Amino acid sequence: MIQYQINAKITPGQFVDILGRSGLAERRPVDDAACIAGMVANGNLTVTAWNGEALVGIARSVTDFHYCCYLSDLAVDRDYQRQGIGRELIARTQAELGRRCTIILLSAPKAVDYYPRIGLERHPQAWVLERKRQIS
Ligand SMILES: CC(C)(COP(=O)(O)OP(=O)(O)OC[C@H]1O[C@@H](n2cnc3c(N)ncnc32)[C@H](O)[C@@H]1OP(=O)(O)O)[C@@H](O)C(=O)NCCC(=O)NCCS
Repeated sequence: MIQYQINAKITPGQFVDILGRSGLAERRPVDDAACIAGMVANGNLTVTAWNGEALVGIARSVTDFHYCCYLSDLAVDRDYQRQGIGRELIARTQAELGRRCTIILLSAPKAVDYYPRIGLERHPQAWVLERKRQIS
């Protein structure tokens, strides 16, 4: 049976491991230990899914809990995918947020069909400023 925890402490190694087992590692800076450590230390809402001692899913967000919540990393172990864990991780993330708080995320290419399937809406006015770019 899968159990869920809010803000359970996990190590950078556990984070990298679940990224690897989900397939998301190819799109996250797993070779940059400082960046991974910062992600683990400074995210302020993390929901994790566990099968006993094994971490099998994670939703890591940065949020003010009132207006916006950036869901940065959603990852479910390949062996546990398509069992409702991803959906539950987002539902439990939302349950921690205030009534005006919107969840915002960037989809990985392989997950673009996933988010509309579970009720998210594509936003036509979303913009990003990658670190390598500067305001002009
Ligand atoms: C995307 C991901 C988080 C989904 O988690 P999951 O636990 O497998 O998904 P769920 O079981 O909650 O799926 C809910 C529904 O979406 C469907 N679904 C799952 N993955 C899908 C995908 N990639 N594309 C389209 N539909 C998908 C499921 O079949 C299910 O449909 P149903 O309600 O008809 O049964 C997981 O597959 C994953 O970790 N993928 C690799 C990493 C990744 O791409 N993460 C997203 C980063 S933005």
